[in-house]
Parts: sequence; structure tokens; C-alpha cells
Amino acid sequence: MGMDYSKITDWILREDCFDPEKLGKCEAVMSLGNGYLGLRSATEEHYFNEARGMFVAGTFNKFDADEVTELPNAADQTAIDIFINGERFSLSDGTTEDYTRELNIRTGELTRAMIWTSPKGAKVKLAFYRIVSLKRLHVIAQRMEITPINEEVSIKLKSGIDGTMTNTGSQHFSDGDKRFYEKRFIQFVQTTGQSGIHFVNTTVHKLNIDGRALPADAAVYIERRKIYGGFDLTVRAGETLAVEKYSNVYTSRDFDTEGMNVTQLQELSLNVSKELEALGYQALKEESASCWEEEVWKLAPIQIEGNAMDQFSIRFAQYHLRMMVPAHDARMNIGAKGLSGEGYKGHTFWDTEIFLLPYYIFTDPKTARKLEEYRYLSLPGAHAKAEHNHYQGAMFPWESAWLDDGEVTPEYMDVDILTGRPNKVWSGFIEQHITADVAFGVWQYSVITGDEDYMEKYGYELIMDTAIFWASRLEMGEDGKYHINDVVGPDEYREHVNDNAFTNYMAHWNMQKAMEYYHLLKDNKQELFQSLNQKMDLENAYAKWEDGCKNIYLPTPTKENILPQDDRYLSCRDIDLSKYKAQEHVAGITRDYNLEQINQIQVSKQADVLVLFFLLEDIFAKEVKKASWEHYEPRTLHDSSLSLSTHSVLACDMGEKDMAYDLFRKAAAIDLGPFMGSSDAGIHAASFGGVWECVVYGFGGVRMLGGRLRICPSLPEAWTKLAYTIIWQGQKLAVEITKDDVKIENLTGTQKVEVEVNGKACTF
Ligand code: BGC
Repeated sequence: MGMDYSKITDWILREDCFDPEKLGKCEAVMSLGNGYLGLRSATEEHYFNEARGMFVAGTFNKFDADEVTELPNAADQTAIDIFINGERFSLSDGTTEDYTRELNIRTGELTRAMIWTSPKGAKVKLAFYRIVSLKRLHVIAQRMEITPINEEVSIKLKSGIDGTMTNTGSQHFSDGDKRFYEKRFIQFVQTTGQSGIHFVNTTVHKLNIDGRALPADAAVYIERRKIYGGFDLTVRAGETLAVEKYSNVYTSRDFDTEGMNVTQLQELSLNVSKELEALGYQALKEESASCWEEEVWKLAPIQIEGNAMDQFSIRFAQYHLRMMVPAHDARMNIGAKGLSGEGYKGHTFWDTEIFLLPYYIFTDPKTARKLEEYRYLSLPGAHAKAEHNHYQGAMFPWESAWLDDGEVTPEYMDVDILTGRPNKVWSGFIEQHITADVAFGVWQYSVITGDEDYMEKYGYELIMDTAIFWASRLEMGEDGKYHINDVVGPDEYREHVNDNAFTNYMAHWNMQKAMEYYHLLKDNKQELFQSLNQKMDLENAYAKWEDGCKNIYLPTPTKENILPQDDRYLSCRDIDLSKYKAQEHVAGITRDYNLEQINQIQVSKQADVLVLFFLLEDIFAKEVKKASWEHYEPRTLHDSSLSLSTHSVLACDMGEKDMAYDLFRKAAAIDLGPFMGSSDAGIHAASFGGVWECVVYGFGGVRMLGGRLRICPSLPEAWTKLAYTIIWQGQKLAVEITKDDVKIENLTGTQKVEVEVNGKACTF
């Protein structure tokens, strides 16, 4: 046995027809990146509807007092204006033949090729190549080839650094220092307005015709927020002009430039440009491709036999899961759109713990640890939020950005169709389950990896600090029970509800876990216990957790076995939802009803109670899950990309294979599917984690339950084989599932691993 990932041949996402009206999709889904920077795949030439974007993880800035902090759209280094015989190259004009744009997810290279005839008849063949290096995190490399087909042409290029980028109008940067060195190294320094982060960009070009090097010194231009070189060339028919452009970006927030002043950053960036120039595109591409091989495809190979699209979908998810994660720096986390667009402002949500973390825990624990260290490092913001709301402990922000920013959810979004005013976003105030989700992530990470060092330094404290918040959040009701009133649960179509089942059960779980760890530390780790006791007054906290756990109201199933989502849901009216269920775009219902009205209807934006079943699956009876599924799924519009994957995994658990497969394919189509507008603001990060969960948790049957590993697979009809690897407490297991067999091999083999396979206890 063993997996031969090299047999998997199709790694290419291809576009074979260019539509200048629908640029957003490819810009986002074909974006390039390495967790440090993310680059939208806007083309070299400009188009009216383009949304060029480059985002550097963690470089948050607040545009002004009325806006929340966001990841600024950094200077553009990829544009090249091309003029052939004086005519601007644009696929909107002239005619185009043999067009392809391809993203090779195995190597991380984006290519484009076409034959273009200008309006006046000059015919040229063009090819473009581009990478963001996975080896050198600061580096973007491009290559462009132009071959005149039937006549000599004059070619004029304008290329450099464009600092006029904005986040839909918000300009985050000063117009800083601009400089040419040796007439060819182009450098631009900009500083963010509020956070004061310096960005240093340097770009250099290398040109040749049929391999004969040309001088790269250019006519130089410096304008407001722009610096670029101009090149004038003549190329004969059949000859190929090749232009390589090497760019890098350094910022004063970088993990590897700590303590450097701007001048030092400038020197560093310039020296790096010289190195890149010497290496050339091909070498940069190859070294980056080997990193992709090592860091992703050999690390966590997944093989699906039986359907090529499904195989591609899971790999495509892995491609984005690598690009979006700032694996280099624990001070940053994953944005809801990764680094592929402005959407959600680069902010981190519960998406990380519930939908993304499992992938990293099971395949790349070091990176998973960084994500969970971020939560510890952002405790100052969580404490500030608790204090602001008169609670105690750590109350995590619904949306997080920089470590001490605290809550950064925008206050208003979209439109209330009745009042014509923007909708208030209540999540930042009352979507509070995030605090328990963070604690749940810590626990998952620690159990699956066995990383006691993390727990001692950060984890125990996080779980206790979050439990302190919950104890202070409980409200005593007339029934003698503690309630959690006025919240938004995971289903954001229901605002100001009481006793959201997800929130109450997770708060209970959080306090219970804190009590368990209290005993564990008191009995076995006295020193740590004492230091945490001093910090958090654990004796006093314990009494509150105990009281909270005993007396919290936990919604119970109705006589029809439905777990009520909140105190009102089941008494709201039903309407015919078929129109919204069938819509291609999301949130159609908000065009017909305002949120207040939606709150009176039995309709859900996304999985809510069902996520609870997914996380705490062993505390609910099968019948409750089934009846609840049957009640909620028909009323769920899946208007969040987080919804389908949870439903798919639960459908697998319920033995509904066909439904699970159908939902998996829909989840995979969120970014890969045919809806051209759906990814404009960026890819859907959590849905990529969700796709992995469908494959490995759902069909692959993996689950950590009460600290034990369980594998209970069920392949969809269309698949003949599924193979994946997971790391359980330091041991890498290769799992191969066929229609009638499950094989598991402990590839690390330094310790025994106990696994419950299809209900039977086994040791590997
Ligand atoms: C969903 C949230 C999610 C957020 C970011 C919203 O539309 O309702 O659950 O955390 O998007 O992905």
C-alpha cells in the first residue's frame, strides 16, 4: 500500500475564454500567494472592471475613525502597459485567438497565452508567466514573451510600481520615497496612515530578444504615488522579446526584519532584487515549485479515484489552504477571504477554529499551533472587549485583526430594504459563541497533537479565561436557571435571540472543560496551577463554573425530537422558501424581507444546531439529529459558504451517502463552480477547510471523539478509492479506503496508535 500521488495528473485550472466583464472570478480563484502575501491574478494589462490586489498578512490599518481596521491593498507591482505599434494591448480590442489562462496548482504558476491581432492589424503571440514564491516569501516573479508573427513591430512597455491602489476608495498609504537605482532598480516606500507600517517595494526588469540580453535601463518616470520605467524596442517577425520582472515587498511588521529602520529595509529590498535578477524566472519558479511539492503535496497527499473533478476539488482546496495561512508568524491568522481580496477586510472569524483548523491540525500541526498561539497573543483585545461590556475574562471579538485591536466588526453593512438605511451588524456586539469556539479549537489542537508544551504556555489559560467570561455572561432567570439572552447564534438570520442552543451548549462545554483542567493542574502541575491561580483567581472561578454548569439552561429536544435552535425559532411562521433555495446568488431573501421580518420566519442562513451536532456529536441521540436535520435543512438557505460542508459531513454520519455527496459537490463549487460573481471579493476560506472536512471527516470517517481517534468511512458511489494521511499525536497514518476495505499504516511508527475503525478497537 502507500500512496502514489505522482499518478495524479490533472493539476490545472483553465480558462479558455476571456470575458473583460467577469474578471473577479479568476482574479480570486487563480490568485497566488504564500501566507505572507496574497496576489490577485489581475492581468498585466488594465481593464475597466479589474480589482487588482496585493495583501500582506497582518499589516492592518484603519483608514479613519468611522471605518474599522482592514488589510490595506498594497502597491501594485504586476501591471505592465504594452503598446504594439503604438496601439495599447487589450483583449477588449482587436481579435484574440488560441487564448488560455491556466493556474497550475501543483507548482503555483499562473500562465496566459494568446495570439492577438491589434485593431490596425499587427499580429503578435503573447505569453505570460507568474509566481509568488513559496520559498522566498517576499517575492513575486513574472515573465512575458512577445513574438511578432508577420511583420516587425515597435513595442513600448511601461512597467513599475503603482501606489494608487485603494480598498474600494480608502487609500491607506502615504505617497512616500521613490527612487531609481542604477537606472533600473525601481523602489517605492509607503507608510500606512494610522498603523504607521512601512512598505518597501522594489522591482527590476530583465530583457532579451531571442536570448540576447538587452540593457534594462529605462526611461524613468516618477509621478504622484507611481514610479515606473519606459522601454522602447523593435522586434522583428519571428523573434521573441522576453521581459522578466522581479519584485519584492518588505514591511516594518515583518517577522524577519524586526528592528530594521526604513533605510535598512530599503537596502535589504534592493539587495534582494539583485539576487532575484541574477537567479532569473526559471530558477525562481523551480525552487518555489519544489516547496509546493514538499510543503503540500508530499506532506498531505489525498487521492480520490473515480471522479477527476472531485480529485481536483480537494487539491484546489489544499492549494488555497496553503496560500491563505500565515504559517510564518503567530501574530497573524487566516482571513475569511484568505489574502485573495478585500472581502471581510482580512479579518479572522470562528471560521478558523471550526472550519479551517482541523486541516492544519491533522496535516501540519506546527502551523495549527501558530493559529492557536494567535488567539493567546490577542488576549489583550479579548480582555478589553469583556471589560467594555462589563464581563470578566476573555471575550473574543467576533472579527479579529491585529492583536490588540479587539472587536473590529464593521457596524453597518448592506441595506435594510424597508428603511433604506444600512443594516446594523449585530455580530460584533452579540455573536458571542466565538469565545467558546476559540476554546474548542485549543482543546482539539491539544488532544489531536498531544502538544503539552502549547497547553502549558497558552492552552490551559485560554480555556480557563474563556470559561471565566461565560460564567460572568450567564443571566439568572425567573425559573432558577441561567440563560444567555440576546445573542446571535451561528445562524445570522436570527438576531437578538435567547438561549441559542449552540451558544448555551458550547458555553457549558467551555466551563466544564475548565473545571476538568482545574483538577488536572491542581493534581499534577502545581507550579502552573499556582501561577494561573494568581493570574485568574481560579478558586473563585471554579465555584462559578460549577454553579454555571449545574444551572445553565440547555435546550432539550421537543417531543418530535427537534432541538430548538433558540427560544423562538420553532414558533415562527413558515413561508415558501423554494425561490430562495433555488437562487444561484446568496441572500436573495434579504431583497424581499428586512432582517426584522426574517427574524419572524423559520428560515436559517446557515447550519446552526447542526454545527453543534458536528462538534459535540456524542451527546445527542441519533433520532434527535435526524429529526433536527429534517426540520432545519429544508429551512436553511445555505447563504453562508460555511453551511454546505457541515451538512455534508452530517449526512455522511446519518448514512445518507447520496445527499452527502451532492452537498460536497455543491460545497466544492462555491469557488470552483460556474457562478461568475461569487468570488469577486475573494475566495471563501472556510469552505476550503469545509471541503477537506467533507472528504476526510465525512467520507473518510475521521473524528476525534472524547480524546479518541475514530475512523468510520463511507465512500460515495462515484469513488472507488480514497486515500489520505493524518497526523495523530505525532504519528502519521496513511489511510486507504476502497469499497470493501480500510487499510491503515502508521508511517511514523515510533508509537502505537489506538484507533476505533468501524466500531472495532485497533492498534497500529
Ligand atoms: C457567516 C459567518 C462567517 C462569516 C465569515 C458570514 O456570512 O454567516 O458564519 O463567519 O461570513 O466567513
